[in-house]
Amino acid sequence: MTEAHDTTIPQHIAIIMDGNGRWANERQLPRIAGHRAGVENVRLIVERCAQLGIKYLTLFAFSSENWRRPPTEVRLLLELFSVALEQEVERLDDNGVCLQVIGDRSGFPGKLQRRIQQAEKLTGNNDSLTLIIAANYGGRWDVTQATRKVAMAVAAGELSPDDITEETIANHLCLTKLPEPDLFIRSGGEQRISNYLLWQLAYTELYFTDCLWPDFDKVEFDRALTSYSTRQRRFGMTGDQIDHADMPTTSTA
Ligand code: IPE
Ligand code: IPE
Ligand code: MG
Repeated sequence: MTEAHDTTIPQHIAIIMDGNGRWANERQLPRIAGHRAGVENVRLIVERCAQLGIKYLTLFAFSSENWRRPPTEVRLLLELFSVALEQEVERLDDNGVCLQVIGDRSGFPGKLQRRIQQAEKLTGNNDSLTLIIAANYGGRWDVTQATRKVAMAVAAGELSPDDITEETIANHLCLTKLPEPDLFIRSGGEQRISNYLLWQLAYTELYFTDCLWPDFDKVEFDRALTSYSTRQRRFGMTGDQIDHADMPTTSTA
């Protein structure tokens, strides 16, 4: 059962934190300085979500395709992720934040994999805000790994192909236990999904801003929330039906 909540405030926000490189370029700084400033900004947005009672925040930190970047940038990004995990995890824990990482972590160095595991273990019982970091994540990877698990169940004779429903697939995807994102935000001016949560974003409200991620402050964040609060979510129904019926809560969880 979904708890009753104020539907003008999203329960789950998914963000593509884009524009770090351009923010650094504008200041004649190396790109990694932009990524560092981006991590600082994550702290601000996490705090704002906690203040507002937003329950789930999913952040795109490193995509399956980001391996295509110059090796030095990839290496520095992974180091930054590792250091940020180490430095932030206790503060997150003190604030009741539950940290989870989604994506193919087998692609990461062993030390980073262990740090992720430790952070998830330490914060696993917290329930004020769930912060999900998508790292080495791609929507196509997610659908593919879910399909593989379903295929294995079929091969083992536990499931008949005729019984595969949308729910079967959804149950094997990352974020399966969470409500689907209500609001998607992309900073940095590009208007694309870049292989983020392809399945989970089916009915998410999309918000794009030119603001570069390190500049995406509380004012910008609240602007996105205001935009969200004016949207009418119809889920295939008509506007009249939404206006005149007792609507179910917005998410399917
Ligand atoms: C987003 O910022 C962070 C990651 C992809 C890791 P970018 O690094 O893509 O910044 P721009 O798009 O080059 O400005
Ligand atoms: C998306 O940003 C991935 C992350 C923010 C982690 P990119 O900057 O990699 O996306 P494209 O390449 O411009 O689509
Ligand atoms: Mg980018």
